[in-house]
Order: sequence, then C-alpha cells, then structure tokens
Amino acid sequence: MASIIEIEKYGPSSVLTYKTHSIATPKSGEVQIKHLAIGVNYHDVYVRSGLYKTLKLPGIPGCEASGIIEKIGKNVDGFEEGERVTYLTREYGAYSTHINIEAEKVLKLPATLEDELVATNFLRAMTVEMLINRITLVDSSKTILVTAASGGVGRLLCQWASSMGVKVIGSVGSQEKIPETKLNGCFETFVSNDKEFSKKILEITDGKGVDIVFDSVGNDTFESSLTSLAHCGYLINFGQSSGPVKPILMTTLAEKSLSISRPILFHYFGTRRNYEKMASSVFKAFEDNVIKVSDFLPFSLKDASSAHDTLESRKGGGSIYLIP
Ligand SMILES: NC(=O)c1ccc[n+]([C@@H]2O[C@H](COP(=O)([O-])OP(=O)(O)OC[C@H]3O[C@@H](n4cnc5c(N)ncnc54)[C@H](OP(=O)(O)O)[C@@H]3O)[C@@H](O)[C@H]2O)c1
Repeated sequence: MASIIEIEKYGPSSVLTYKTHSIATPKSGEVQIKHLAIGVNYHDVYVRSGLYKTLKLPGIPGCEASGIIEKIGKNVDGFEEGERVTYLTREYGAYSTHINIEAEKVLKLPATLEDELVATNFLRAMTVEMLINRITLVDSSKTILVTAASGGVGRLLCQWASSMGVKVIGSVGSQEKIPETKLNGCFETFVSNDKEFSKKILEITDGKGVDIVFDSVGNDTFESSLTSLAHCGYLINFGQSSGPVKPILMTTLAEKSLSISRPILFHYFGTRRNYEKMASSVFKAFEDNVIKVSDFLPFSLKDASSAHDTLESRKGGGSIYLIP
C-alpha cells in the first residue's frame, strides 16, 4: 500500500486529502521509487486551485521527489534496486510514498547531494539553468532585474547570475527581505511596490534601464518590469505568483524594441540527452556552491495543506518539502 495526497475537486488547500492506495508493480519501462523527500512548488498550488487544469481528477499532484528505487519493470536498463534517484514529471503523482514512473524521467543522484536539497530545489534550479543558458545571452556585460529575488527560484537565479559576473538588481515584496538578497548576490534591491521603483532602476543604470528582467511575479510587477528595460531589452516572464499577466500589444514592445518570452521548463528538456545535460549542470552548480540553500522546512505528507498555506503566505519557497 502507498499513502497519497489526492485532489478530487479544485479549491483551497483543504482539498488536499490524505488516503491510502494500492500500488501496482511497475510496468515495462517503469521503475518503482520509494520517496524520501517530496518537492512542493507553486505549480502544485495552481494545479490544486484549478488555475492549471493539467491534473486529471481525482489525481495525485506533485512534480518532483527524491527517493530509492525499490522495483524495476521489464525493459529498463541502467538502474539498480536501492539506487538513490530523483525525477521531474509533468504527469504528476509525487505527493505519495511511492510512485511507478518511466525510467526515462529518472536521474541518479550524486552522493554529495542531500534528499531535502534536491526535493526542495531541483525543479527550481533546473528552471534557473534554463533561464541563464537557454533563452537569451546572459553574461558579465549584462545588468539584470530579478523579481521575487528572495523567493525559491529568485535566490538561486541571483546566486548563479552573480557568480558569472552579471550585475544583479533584485526586487522583493517587503523591506525585511532585502538583506538576504544582498547575500545572494544582488548589488541593489528595491521593494517592488515602491512608487519610485522605475525611477530608481533608471538612476542605478545611468539612465539606460536593465538588459533583461526575469519576472516570476506576473500581474503585479509586469508593468514596472517593462518600464525598467533598456532599449532592445528582454523580458522573461516565467511565473505568475500574483496572478496571470494581462494581454499586451505588440506596439508596446515596439516603443523600445523589446523582446518577450514566456518559457516553461518542461518544453526546454526536449530529449533525455538535454534533460541529463541540464541536470548535470545543476548538480555541478550545487556541488561547486554556485547555488546553495541551507534552510529546510519539512511537513509530513499528510500535512500537505499546511505546506501549501505556508507557500502561499509568501514564506518558505525553496525550503518546503514533504516527508512521506
Ligand atoms: N516557467 C517555469 O517553467 C517555472 C518553473 C518554476 C517556477 N515557475 C514559477 O515561478 C514562480 C516562483 O516560483 P518559486 O518556486 O520561486 O516560488 P516561491 O519560492 O513561493 O516565491 C514566490 C515569491 O513571489 C512573490 N510574490 C509576489 N506576489 C505574490 C503573491 N500574491 N502570492 C505569493 N507570492 C507572491 C513572493 O516574494 P515577495 O514577497 O518578495 O514579493 C514570494 O516569495 C511561480 O509562479 C512558479 O510557478 C515557473
């Protein structure tokens, strides 16, 4: 038997229901993983609330976990029982003690990386790998603005970009979050709802604006992200923590010859080879301390609703995980 969190209908965190459930033997091409730590992402909140209708109901949410291979189906090469692994999946099912999953999605974990680090930050770090390496050129000649700079993805992005010599400006929701962003590599950080926000960005960039904005807040910051850009700047909107962005006119982009992108991590994997390439770049970044996380906030699987409440209260992103 497996213990699972099931969603029967979309709604608040209370729809996350703890149940037990029988688990089949893995099919051909699959492995069965016993989870040790399960990741909690904002995507899971969108799935639970119904903003994304990508999970067939009733269903088990969750896109990532780390654990140990317990059983191996037919036609699987390269894995052994007892191996420590991790995975990302768009087919969900991670909020569970066990999962049967295609071996194609599974990656062996380096011994140096802890289960909780991987469960809390693998998907986030893969997102940062995509943002830095796969959308537009990010290098030491660039000045960038990172919204939600102290959030889960935001802090890794600031750390990784600043380690490359990129000049990083952060924005956060409140004053008390500023000091942490400085530790994560921001040379200056502003509160996002500051009335003088765009003026301050211009002042600090000698009147030019920034080359790239990485915006994960969406609705509340989108406009100031556009006004913060230099001519020929690039806006990468990769999230919508404050709500979806409203439609935008092409003529708005033409005002400064701007480019815009709305990337989704899973589209950037493409092939197993690319998935492995991105993952090894992330594992190396963790091992070399280019990106680091030290605070972890565990919840037991049956308390998944409290984990969601904490995430939605703008706390704990990149720290929260579930213990099966
Ligand atoms: N495109 C992709 O493939 C991809 C991959 C991973 C994540 N994402 C998206 O990236 C975003 C950030 O993910 P994350 O893991 O970094 O999340 P997180 O750790 O929970 O951080 C989100 C931050 O957003 C800010 N925020 C602003 N308005 C908010 C609101 N109304 N409610 C909650 N938070 C608000 C908060 O920081 P302040 O208080 O400082 O404003 C909060 O800490 C999410 O939207 C997620 O879905 C996208």
